[in-house]
Amino acid sequence: MSIETSLKTALEEAPVPPAPSLWQMNLDLQVKPTWRRMLTGDRPTGPLHLGHYVGSLRYRLALQEHIECFVIIADLHVLTTRTERLDELEANVREVVLDYLAVGIDPRKTAIYLQSLVPEVLEIMWLFMSLVSVPRAQRIPTLKQAVRDLQLESASVALLSYPILQAADILMVKGDVVPVSKDNASHIELTREIARRFNRLYRPIFPEPDSPIGPLLVGLDGQKKASKSLGNVILLCDDAETVRRKVRSMFTDPRRIRADIPGRTRGNPVFIYHDFFNDDRAEVEDLKHRYRRGKVGDVEVKEKLARAINRFLDPIRERRAYFASRPKLIEEIVYEGSRRARAEARKTLQEMREAMGLTHFRQEGTL
Ligand code: TRP
Repeated sequence: MSIETSLKTALEEAPVPPAPSLWQMNLDLQVKPTWRRMLTGDRPTGPLHLGHYVGSLRYRLALQEHIECFVIIADLHVLTTRTERLDELEANVREVVLDYLAVGIDPRKTAIYLQSLVPEVLEIMWLFMSLVSVPRAQRIPTLKQAVRDLQLESASVALLSYPILQAADILMVKGDVVPVSKDNASHIELTREIARRFNRLYRPIFPEPDSPIGPLLVGLDGQKKASKSLGNVILLCDDAETVRRKVRSMFTDPRRIRADIPGRTRGNPVFIYHDFFNDDRAEVEDLKHRYRRGKVGDVEVKEKLARAINRFLDPIRERRAYFASRPKLIEEIVYEGSRRARAEARKTLQEMREAMGLTHFRQEGTL
């Protein structure tokens, strides 16, 4: 059997992902008829959590049913903030691919690829670098934030270039839709500027990508954002008991010190999670109704939430187990996706060189 056929067979035999009715709850996405290609992705810095699911993974699930999709694992971007422990990257990459496959990203519809396996992106980035001034690159809010959060003395040139590399990721496949969370919005804005400038200066070859922005999920502790570094998240790979424990510890309405005091459901993390993950809508409405009247205890609300989240995660766990026991298959998926991405990158780079008049001394087969 060829690699492609064995890959196809293995994917056909994989357990089914969560049903769309589950992940489409509160999904705000209008698919534009002009969209041809999606590109988005993550840095391989650790396991993904429910915040990633709500803010971006389910947008990819929705879009892969409509258009051609690319999902990048941005390992080169990790180097912008980290120079040590790089030997952890491989395990992290595998973990992220497993998370993607587990939630239902389908390699038959979506090319999952590793950034460092497409070296053309660096040449494309170089060609973009002259289109961005230093003050413009310095105005990116995530840059200051990274310097602050990581307590760096100053930004490296790589960190300053982070969004230019991201623009190269997107434009190398001519992505016209890039679903991201809010903290990446300024990078997509710069991508649009680079596309516009290139198109005007040379030849119009790039789309100016749209970026539907997914909602931020609150943390279990009621902090604005669920974030692994804050430790306030439920991981997609958490087991049922861990989910129950984490849900029991969740922050609720702090003014409600007894179950018979009427509580607020709006902005209350347990109800925000119910809204996103509990497919039993009648149960959610009943709980909200009783909560506002002081007729239900936190214990019951949380018990039902933990059950709902576990119901949601069960098919994800099943798919994860299937792929986790097939490490070779993971490699094939990444190689196949990277081949597809690389073919696009080569085409785009060639088109850019021609548009720029950069074809001197280029003879097939001389080097
Ligand atoms: N910047 C993204 C993050 O915050 C990762 C990323 C790299 C990306 N290249 C991309 C996202 C291209 C969308 C499109 O982890």
